[in-house]
Amino acid sequence: MSTPAPAPAPTLDPLAILKGLAALRKLAGTYPPGHPMIGQKLKEIGDLVADPLREGGPIRIDVIRGDIYLDEVASSSAQQGNQPLVEQLTALGIDSIHIHQGVELDEFLAVAEFLWRHAETGEAVSNQLASRNVRHITLGKLLPLDTKWRYQQWPDAPTGPLDPDYAESLMMAQQTFENTSAGKPLDVVTVRDLVQLLIYKVARSNAALGQILAVKQYENLTYCHSVNVAMLSLLLGKHVGLSDAMLAALTEAALLHDVGKTQIPLEVVKKPGALDKAERKLIESHTTLGAEILVQAEGLHPLTPTVALEHHRGVKGGGYPDLGDAIPHPMSQIVSVADVYEAITGARSYQAPTPPERACLILARLAGDKLNTALVKTFVNAITFFPLGSLVRTTRNELGLVIETGRGEPLHPVITLLDEQSYSPIGRLDTATRDSSGAYERHITETVAPPDGLDLRHLLEPARAA
Ligand SMILES: [Fe+2]
Repeated sequence: MSTPAPAPAPTLDPLAILKGLAALRKLAGTYPPGHPMIGQKLKEIGDLVADPLREGGPIRIDVIRGDIYLDEVASSSAQQGNQPLVEQLTALGIDSIHIHQGVELDEFLAVAEFLWRHAETGEAVSNQLASRNVRHITLGKLLPLDTKWRYQQWPDAPTGPLDPDYAESLMMAQQTFENTSAGKPLDVVTVRDLVQLLIYKVARSNAALGQILAVKQYENLTYCHSVNVAMLSLLLGKHVGLSDAMLAALTEAALLHDVGKTQIPLEVVKKPGALDKAERKLIESHTTLGAEILVQAEGLHPLTPTVALEHHRGVKGGGYPDLGDAIPHPMSQIVSVADVYEAITGARSYQAPTPPERACLILARLAGDKLNTALVKTFVNAITFFPLGSLVRTTRNELGLVIETGRGEPLHPVITLLDEQSYSPIGRLDTATRDSSGAYERHITETVAPPDGLDLRHLLEPARAA
């Protein structure tokens, strides 16, 4: 029944690529940049990958239990005499190299230099490659037990240009969570500053809100997730008319709702697929562990530990931890909605992120049993998922700038279509337009980060006036 996977291009020898990279790694560590031997090796690698990439790519080389696979097919030419090379790569924590169309020779050199120094730093591979401008080569680990599920290496935090206040709040949250993870007491002063920054700066920035509401192409395990959930809870709290004092309490509670995860080993938090009973218990304990940390911290709002304890409880009871028939506090219910939306619009090692529109459908499905229906309705109907000035892509692969929202169509704004190369405006489009059957003609699939240094605000006013 199943269609056989297309055979890899016959000219491609994954072992040759791996050997080339290993040789380049040594050369990059031995000779100065620009040395002719480096240039020669780069050219050899470039020649090896040119043809297969021209056919569409990507080239996926994985090492599974010591054997080299090309595009998920064991490479017969590569089984002989490859042991030292494979060991060298796996010793570096690398057993997956994917090369995408558009790769430049400089990227191979940057990867080789990275591999040379890799053992010396503890920073995430994806971040280190991004900082070296490597955009078309990914290095990663495969899941040791289930080789059918490819471990996808997502960045741990947003990449690309970030709203400055949002970037600062992420840094503050990272510091706070890392300290807590290292066993230090919670820094309540920083938490308070962070809550102020979120309420008075980040919540007023369309750019920041766009970055938080969009599909998130990164695996935000705790601190980014916490900042994002705090912002989404704040938005939802505003829409249901909470007072300023309660909004501050809500933002603080949302920011710290998952603080218990700092006490759980990362490999359990990140583990894809089914967890065994002990692992599940451990994960679930982040609610009680968090509440314990927060009860001990002086100067927090009394509801903050409550929200940490209750945010995985359903509105009809159920969920975890077991608290009998207790119904979660309304503040916990707000954080639950924000938490679910944030989690599914972010990436996981085993799952691509879900676009906002589908995420809203998932929320709707959970409403009534797990989530509060009125809160889900408010969230889905009142939050502007693509704020003014967001750069978005549609299901028809159009690129556009959001120029009008708030027409009762939170997922379907009016956009100015932009030219892919020059970003100059080429027309106006209402994404809420429906076809003869009543279905939307197009949906927004993602929010796109504008290229570095490009400011599209000047397009906003004339476009809206048009
Ligand atoms: Fe949680």
